[in-house]
Amino acid sequence: MRIAVFGAGGYTGKLVLAELNRRDIDTVLVGRSTERLTEAASRAGLGTVPASVRQAAAEDHTVLVHAFRDCSAVINCAGPFVLSGGAVVRAALAAGCHYVDTSGEQRHLDRTFTAFGGPAEKAGVTVVPGTNDDGLPSDLLAHLVAERVGPVRELVIGLDVDSGDAMPSRGTIRSGLENIDTFTTGGLGYEEGRWHTDIAARSTALTFPGGAGPIPVAKFPLPAVVTVPRHVKARRVEGVANARLVAALAGLTPAVINAVPEGPPADSRRKARWMITVEALGEDGSHARGVIHGTDMQGTTALIAVESAHRLVADGAAAGVLAPSQAYVPADFLRFLGRYGVQWSVDGPGTAVGG
Ligand SMILES: NC(=O)c1ccc[n+]([C@@H]2O[C@H](COP(=O)([O-])OP(=O)(O)OC[C@H]3O[C@@H](n4cnc5c(N)ncnc54)[C@H](OP(=O)(O)O)[C@@H]3O)[C@@H](O)[C@H]2O)c1
Repeated sequence: MRIAVFGAGGYTGKLVLAELNRRDIDTVLVGRSTERLTEAASRAGLGTVPASVRQAAAEDHTVLVHAFRDCSAVINCAGPFVLSGGAVVRAALAAGCHYVDTSGEQRHLDRTFTAFGGPAEKAGVTVVPGTNDDGLPSDLLAHLVAERVGPVRELVIGLDVDSGDAMPSRGTIRSGLENIDTFTTGGLGYEEGRWHTDIAARSTALTFPGGAGPIPVAKFPLPAVVTVPRHVKARRVEGVANARLVAALAGLTPAVINAVPEGPPADSRRKARWMITVEALGEDGSHARGVIHGTDMQGTTALIAVESAHRLVADGAAAGVLAPSQAYVPADFLRFLGRYGVQWSVDGPGTAVGG
């Protein structure tokens, strides 16, 4: 199996390289600066085999297709995805490579499903956008929680982070700024068969794992709001986050980019915590709840992106653009994450499960 990493010279790209190296997976580095790619390869302990470093910008379609040509899958780490993500998906399809990315941008996910569903099916390729620390775990958990209640009247996905001194990476802030309108408005909600930009969140407070009680939450553009309705029959799906986090992201300014390092150092990352809750209310009035939490958002993203690409190549999935729960067996993937310290549980009608 050979996996291409696009944007391999960036902060997330380097963590993905380290994870591929740890798993001994043949890796091709692709990006627009040979110098940065070569440095990233050596920092990840990959050595500098010339054939594994390929220069291509997202905008150079022919060069990019050529760079992906002999790879089984592409992991795209080059944000902001609203700017260049579509071009990389198009090149992966043309090269016949499966595709995953680390995007959390609702608009990129939405466009990927709309623009590339048919072309991916035709190319016999699987595309799974949003395989990061928040998009994939919340999508898988939501699937398991929804199963407990049958047809869902209302599904609420909540996010909280306790990042300590681990500031988001520069690239994450850049992507946030490119999508700032989704943070100020809360982005998409799903109701009665379609996505809307103008529906308010109903939830005002949620209890997160380890918390003493409910804390204020506000509408937030979670990637799972785009993916979950593709596999869960729900009348309404909304995404919310800790109101303090929502206010901080909505207040981002370009000045912050230069005030933070490329990304948090490893020791800060490992002290940071992320928590996701999913609450489902069934049409019959039944209720189920799931939680999932872990540390190290950026390291977990690398673990998830590599495992997502690996599963597409090793196990296969239907051709097309898929939500994580359509491409993978939800409980099985969550059990895999459990081996790396991610804890999760689902409670509701039936037997409690978790890992
Ligand atoms: N950090 C995480 O764990 C995490 C978690 C969830 C989601 N994400 C998302 O992952 C993305 C990357 O974050 P990051 O911190 O790794 O950013 P980063 O350090 O700025 O890296 C971005 C990489 O993408 C490359 N790139 C961007 N546009 C390109 C284009 N048009 N053609 C070729 N290469 C291009 C950049 O190349 P140059 O070096 O040539 O500029 C750089 O190597 C962001 O959208 C972020 O929100 C990250």
